[in-house]
Amino acid sequence: MSAEGHPEGFTPVRLTAADLPCVSALEAAQGWPTAGSQAQLAATLNDGASVVVGLMAGEALAGYAVVVRLPFEAELQAILVDDTWRGRGLARRLLSTVVAQTRAWSSERLLLEVRAGNAPAIALYRGAGFREDGIRRGYYAPRPDPAQFPPTATPRQAGAAGAAGGDDAREDALLMSLPLAAEEPASG
Ligand SMILES: CC(C)(COP(=O)(O)OP(=O)(O)OC[C@H]1O[C@@H](n2cnc3c(N)ncnc32)[C@H](O)[C@@H]1OP(=O)(O)O)[C@@H](O)C(=O)NCCC(=O)NCCS
Repeated sequence: MSAEGHPEGFTPVRLTAADLPCVSALEAAQGWPTAGSQAQLAATLNDGASVVVGLMAGEALAGYAVVVRLPFEAELQAILVDDTWRGRGLARRLLSTVVAQTRAWSSERLLLEVRAGNAPAIALYRGAGFREDGIRRGYYAPRPDPAQFPPTATPRQAGAAGAAGGDDAREDALLMSLPLAAEEPASG
């Protein structure tokens, strides 16, 4: 596949347990907080209620997103793009694939939590139409090293980090959602 640096050159693929090595390699290369948690990653890739979408750059994974189906809604649990491929629209492409999946599920809303200081991700979500629903104060454990630790984490990551974190400089979570239900027809 020739991606040529353009998001349209990447085909979204659904990742499975067989893709565990390349997902794991991407997470480790990007200093993802749960990198190395093979069992958790394998469980996500095997979970029938979750869809993991990837964009491949040849044999390597350029980015992926995880979405889980809930009874009425869906939750974006992770989105990560290799830093060599950032700023080229890959996350937007992943997000639109996730949104299409949640519409296929007839989910009412797509939910997410993001570190309040994660400006790139928040801009991505706002640009995709997410609105801010609230703040969860001090939800995330402090980042040990911002250069090594992505500035956001999902609940599974927060849980892992929280066990080790202290109570200084904990970071707020911004709760966001994208309404997916069809517009109600105007009455009257
Ligand atoms: C957040 C992240 C997924 C964005 O990936 P990306 O492929 O670079 O994003 P895109 O190129 O698709 O950009 C889409 C939009 O996101 C926003 N954005 C992306 N990078 C940005 C940056 N560095 N600063 C500000 N806004 C940014 C912009 O609104 C951009 O739209 P624009 O190009 O029209 O301005 C990537 O930076 C990443 O993997 N970060 C680490 C993991 C993470 O924080 N994940 C988020 C929640 S789990």
